[in-house]
Order: sequence, then C-alpha cells, then structure tokens
Amino acid sequence: MASLLRIDSSPRGNASVSRRLGDTYTDGWKAAHSGSTVTTRDLAFQQPTYVDIQWIQSVYTPPDQQTDAHKAALKLSDEIIAEVEAADTILITSPLYNFSIPAVLKAWIDHLVRAGRTFAYVNGAPQGKVHGKKAVIILAKGGDYSESSPMHALDNATPYLRTILGFLGITDVTFLDAGGVSMYPHKGQTEEQFLEPLQQKARELVTA
Ligand SMILES: Cc1cc2nc3c(=O)[nH]c(=O)nc-3n(C[C@H](O)[C@H](O)[C@H](O)COP(=O)(O)O)c2cc1C
Repeated sequence: MASLLRIDSSPRGNASVSRRLGDTYTDGWKAAHSGSTVTTRDLAFQQPTYVDIQWIQSVYTPPDQQTDAHKAALKLSDEIIAEVEAADTILITSPLYNFSIPAVLKAWIDHLVRAGRTFAYVNGAPQGKVHGKKAVIILAKGGDYSESSPMHALDNATPYLRTILGFLGITDVTFLDAGGVSMYPHKGQTEEQFLEPLQQKARELVTA
C-alpha cells in the first residue's frame, strides 16, 4: 500500500500558497492511490524542538547504554525518522523565508538527519541510509527566482533541500517553484489566474 508523508511549514493556514498547492498534490495523489495512507506533520502548528545538548549526547551514546533520559531526548527524532522511513513519497510544502527555509522546517531536518540512523560515514565518505523514496517540494516565494531571474542565486532553499535529502539517500527530488506570490497583483493577475497553472503542475507531479 502506497503511503504519503506530508510536511507543512507555513503558518498562514488557508492563505498559504504552499499549503494550497500541497492540497492539490495530495488530492491528486489520493485519487491515484486508492486505499493508501496519508500522514501529515504540521510544523507550523506543532513546532519541533531544537537540537540541544541532551539530544547530541543521546545520539552519540550507544543504544545499549542509553538511559531513559537519553531515549526521551530522542523521542521526537525517532518519530520523525519513523514517519519518513514508512513513506514512499514525501511532500514538503514551504515558504521561502529570508532566502532560505523557515526555522520550523530546519528544526524538523535537524531531527531527521541523525548519525548512525539516517546517515553514516564509511571510509570517510558520506552514506545515506534512507532509500527508495520520492520527494516533492513545493516552495512558495514572494519573488521570482527562476533561472533567468537576477534573483536566481539567492534562493538557498532549493539547493539546500536537494543537498540534505541527497545526503540521506533521497535523490528522487522534484521541486515545484511557486515564485512570484508578491508580484502577481502588480501584473494585474487575480489569485486564481496566478494559482491555476501552478495547480496544474502540482497535479502533473503526481504521475511524473
Ligand atoms: C518572514 C518572511 C520572510 C520572507 N522572505 C522572503 C524572501 O527571502 N524572498 C521572497 O521571495 N519572499 C519572501 N517572503 C515571502 C514569502 O515567501 C511568500 O509570501 C510565500 O507565499 C509564503 O509562503 P506561503 O504562502 O505558503 O505562506 C517572506 C515572507 C515572510 C513572512
């Protein structure tokens, strides 16, 4: 049975472009995979904790020596990793914030990227331990960061997400660039006119 893990990170609820495009993708994915499961983790409304000294000490304590306190410090990380491991497809919806990802999404990544669990170094080379996944990333951006734009190099979110997922072994990653959210009203476009072609792309990504 197919399973989709959906990670949302915008705090803007129904006004969020990344969430609305995520809804389009999720609806299409459900229609294409009957009897499948969708698990959602909403980082904006269920904010992850940050990595702290207890977390670091616990990660570097061998499992057979971990105390209850160590295990408690890794509980959220265990849950986040289990959700990713159980999914065939991982959908991440995110705004571009200050040319990067929102802090809540970075906090989720910090729980997911765990030495010995989701990656290891073998003879000095990094080896991802998460395989057989497809990732779809929907990134809403105020400006235009397409390849022909002078802003292109300032989008750090796209290369970062590709790098960190690839580091874990998730190399089948597709981006939906929802750029220009702040610009379409100045071009005389309605919200529907702006969203429609992006929703069409989100639907196409289900079978891509
Ligand atoms: C705190 C904050 C930082 C932002 N930083 C950027 C930015 O660096 N570049 C950009 O193009 N848009 C930026 N924006 C605009 C958002 O990317 C844009 O509104 C996007 O639609 C937000 O995603 P959402 O609609 O899913 O909430 C920022 C918005 C906020 C609230």
